[in-house]
Amino acid sequence: MKKITIAIDGFSSTGKSTIAKELAKKLKYVYVDSGAMYRAVTYFAMENSIISDTFFYKDELIKRLDDIILTFKYNTSLGFAEIYLNNVNVEKEIRTLGVSKLVSKVAEVSEVRKKLVEQQKKFGENKGVVMDGRDIGTVVFPNAELKLFMNASASKRAKRRFDELIKRGDQVTFEEILKNVEYRDHIDSTRYDSPLIKASDAIEIDNSNLTLDEQFNIIYTIVQEKLKTV
Ligand code: CDP
Repeated sequence: MKKITIAIDGFSSTGKSTIAKELAKKLKYVYVDSGAMYRAVTYFAMENSIISDTFFYKDELIKRLDDIILTFKYNTSLGFAEIYLNNVNVEKEIRTLGVSKLVSKVAEVSEVRKKLVEQQKKFGENKGVVMDGRDIGTVVFPNAELKLFMNASASKRAKRRFDELIKRGDQVTFEEILKNVEYRDHIDSTRYDSPLIKASDAIEIDNSNLTLDEQFNIIYTIVQEKLKTV
């Protein structure tokens, strides 16, 4: 069967990566978490004292971009690929609230976007890829056969992210997570370079009141319909 490209965009914590991973598994496609790449660059900048709550040496980050090598390695027991920063697995380190607080600032930098988008386009060269992010259907794969745009109420999204972080053992409050979700929504959708917008040909899904199974069934039906037409 012909392989397609599936682009999944949407606001923070809308469950994009959950559905993207499920689809990739079911279709035997490659899953790429583009947000993990922006998070890994942010983590690099934090570790190298390039960014903090009080400063951001943007030019220094731009100068150091060639020192950042991002790779994905498939983890058979987890069933998806994990991200490595300069050969070190940083899956856990990049999912903290500390990284979430700074990532949208880093993702505004055009030089960072250019580097990551170039790599993302390469991942999609052979089709059979599910990628989630903010600009996948608009910038990375404007010709993707299927584009989804995920949404949910800010409080539902914050609750999901809060539960995730608490489960990992992080000490966070619901209020600070909600604030971060709203803050990132604002920066991501108002930035100059590649803002988060729904592509005109994307199908919007509000999953505020959908269980994971309901969401999967709705989206998998859309995928199957699409596959019949290519
Ligand atoms: O998982 P969550 O929705 O919290 O966010 P993510 O997908 O891990 O992305 C983290 C951040 O990276 C976003 O808030 C954006 O600022 C940035 N990002 C982006 O600018 N473009 C992408 N394609 C993916 C993420």
